[in-house]
Amino acid sequence: MIVAVLNQKGGVGKTTLAVNIAATLAREGKRVLVIDADPQGSALDWAAARQGEPLVSVIGLPRPTIHKEVRQIGAAYDHIIIDGPPRVTDLARSAIMAADLVLIPVQPSPYDVWAAAEVVKLVDEARSFKDLLKSVFVINRKITGTAIGRDVGEALAAYSVPVLTSTVGQRVVFAETAAQGLAAFEVDADGPAAAEVGALVAEMQEIVA
Ligand SMILES: Nc1ncnc2c1ncn2[C@@H]1O[C@H](COP(=O)(O)OP(=O)(O)O)[C@@H](O)[C@H]1O
Ligand SMILES: [Mg+2]
Repeated sequence: MIVAVLNQKGGVGKTTLAVNIAATLAREGKRVLVIDADPQGSALDWAAARQGEPLVSVIGLPRPTIHKEVRQIGAAYDHIIIDGPPRVTDLARSAIMAADLVLIPVQPSPYDVWAAAEVVKLVDEARSFKDLLKSVFVINRKITGTAIGRDVGEALAAYSVPVLTSTVGQRVVFAETAAQGLAAFEVDADGPAAAEVGALVAEMQEIVA
């Protein structure tokens, strides 16, 4: 599958989820490519920070030609995860055109609900000439024991994009492992972060299948 992790808003967890999803697919024995479409190159930094063998390949492609190049660049891979840029609309459009599934992380905050309007608009525009395009929200950094996650899920229901059942919690292990170019499951294989990303990947694969 080709997944574009997108949101015009920065800091929502695009890179965190992109690299952890990619690594989780690689853990299942798949050949996985991450296309870093963000001029900031955070996924490239993540890959460069790693000491041992890479789990996934990461290339930088911060140009609005991703949709034209993705087949050729990704030919040797089972799955391609595109880590999207904040703001830059032409890059986001290109990533949407390249994707089977657009995954939109949102934090449990009304600001994130409002900001999601921008990326939903891009997805709706793309759908008019790409009717097989799928798109979903995933709530990221959900804080256990609060109602805000559920409230945000309800607020997001007003958009044309459905919300995944899987959510990802606020887990410090994502930040800790990022610094070493690792996925969360590599330091805590049976921990909650690994389980949540695993469930997220399974749900995404079901949608694309
Ligand atoms: N589920 C999470 N739990 C804890 N920290 C997270 C989580 N998701 C993202 N973060 C942290 O939030 C910050 C922004 O995440 P990042 O993936 O860089 O967002 P984006 O790529 O959308 O700008 C980073 O410091 C990252 O470690
Ligand atoms: Mg990022």
